[in-house]
Amino acid sequence: MKSSNLPWYKKSVIYQIYPWSFKDSNADGVGDLKGIIEKLDYLNDSTNQSLGVGAIWLSPIYPSPMKDFGYDISDYCNIDPRFGSLEIFGELVSKAHDRGIKIIMDLVTNHTSSLHPWFIESRSSKNNPKRDWYIWHDPKPDGSEPNNWISVSGGSMWTLDEKTNQYYLHNFLAEQPDLNWRNKEVQEEMKKIMEFWIAHGVDGFRVDAASHFVEDEQFRDDPANEKYIEGKTSPYEKFSHTFSTNQPEVKEVINLMCNICSENKDIFIVSETYLGLEDIKRFYRFCDTPVQAPFNFQLMGLPWSAQNFRTAIDTYNAALLPEDVPIFVLGNHDRMRLASQRGIHQARAAAVLLLTLRGTPFVYYGEEIGMHDVGIPPQKMRDGFAETLGNSFSRDPQRTPMQWNADDHAGFSTVEPWLPISKDFKEVNVAYQETDPYSILNLYKTLIQYRNISDTLLLGTYRSINAEAPEIYAYVRETKNELLLILINFSGVTITEPLATRKYTMICTSNLDIPKGTQISESITLRPHEACILRLEK
Ligand code: GLC
Repeated sequence: MKSSNLPWYKKSVIYQIYPWSFKDSNADGVGDLKGIIEKLDYLNDSTNQSLGVGAIWLSPIYPSPMKDFGYDISDYCNIDPRFGSLEIFGELVSKAHDRGIKIIMDLVTNHTSSLHPWFIESRSSKNNPKRDWYIWHDPKPDGSEPNNWISVSGGSMWTLDEKTNQYYLHNFLAEQPDLNWRNKEVQEEMKKIMEFWIAHGVDGFRVDAASHFVEDEQFRDDPANEKYIEGKTSPYEKFSHTFSTNQPEVKEVINLMCNICSENKDIFIVSETYLGLEDIKRFYRFCDTPVQAPFNFQLMGLPWSAQNFRTAIDTYNAALLPEDVPIFVLGNHDRMRLASQRGIHQARAAAVLLLTLRGTPFVYYGEEIGMHDVGIPPQKMRDGFAETLGNSFSRDPQRTPMQWNADDHAGFSTVEPWLPISKDFKEVNVAYQETDPYSILNLYKTLIQYRNISDTLLLGTYRSINAEAPEIYAYVRETKNELLLILINFSGVTITEPLATRKYTMICTSNLDIPKGTQISESITLRPHEACILRLEK
């Protein structure tokens, strides 16, 4: 098989855009769809001057009160006026498609906004026809919450609605009431919504909060988590969520979504789940058609060592079938940025890792220029989770505006943006890095462009091998014609690794300073946190 015959979601690098922060085209301090259209050539102009991504995932752009920045939807079939309109969305889809870029919509169907007309109806009376579209429960005899379930964003999962004296359930903020996926009308409505967006040209969905879709029907208490350490672990870890998440019926919801997608050629679903390996394995088998995969977030929190990464990646690959698509993720809008969590050299090595593993890589906007988390003063914080969980849980630092150039407001906007710009924007920006042949941006471009045309990276097998130095994680991607050897130095010291007697050619190093095609034999010297790709023709 040639990689050109693969479905798009098995051969594309997917780039996550946080629309609030990508590019402001109308001087209101907030990014928008026209801004994204302006930057499509940066993402992929069909030459190797651009990043070369094959798809973009748009974090939510639906109308929303923005209590959770779009993850609280008040109308599933429209675009928030801050970002544009359905017409501009159509323009984005068609211009993206012209450049070979697919569009993935964020599908937030675990919950709606409390201002969604469905919830307004549902809460209006106990016998409203939409009452059962959400999850309502009587208080305990003493008036307290029905059980001990806690929400991801802090506090109880239950809020009392005084008008009808019943509690409603919310896995996230009180302004994000959970839909009742056991209700057939809700299921029908969701099908229509997916079909609506497919008819508008989208190529895939990123399914938000998939493990939270269904809760225990008997509302049993969650058991305490013995590993929880007050003040150290996130408050959500206080309980093992045995009854409040990851229930068997999640399979039916995913199945329903897959059926809609498999009726429409080439639509891909990627689900947000924070599951252990056994559950992930089951998740892959939820649908008969190979159109869906769960994210693997395990690498994001893993302590930086060759052994940890090797074990995690080997175990994951061994658990999956050859046709499964592993989706390793190193960053997103909920987690600390790579350069802040690991350091900038490690971020470069991580780029080599992510873009040479088996599967479909997701890159969060700004990672390609090594953006850092930005310290946000409390009075400028916007994330609703900071109000309930405390400022240290705010996700604003990783959501700041994209740094395009050294102009005012980093070329993101002509006015003060919704979140502050990083102080380092004069050096860390696209325009500057485009002129620097050794920049992290040029590393991402080199890696993505290489991956796009490499049958070995797209189709080859994966196997890790023992390096002489324990600080080096080494693995091979292989087809019958070619072998690629990837070596990553996880330590802060220079290491020379022997290469038996074989003659390799250099594809690239994370420092970008050894020319492609250089012959490498006997050994390779890797500087601190350096990674490289070597090629061997068979
Ligand atoms: C997902 C999103 C997160 C959001 C939450 C509630 O975890 O990634 O940003 O707050 O769902 O929708």
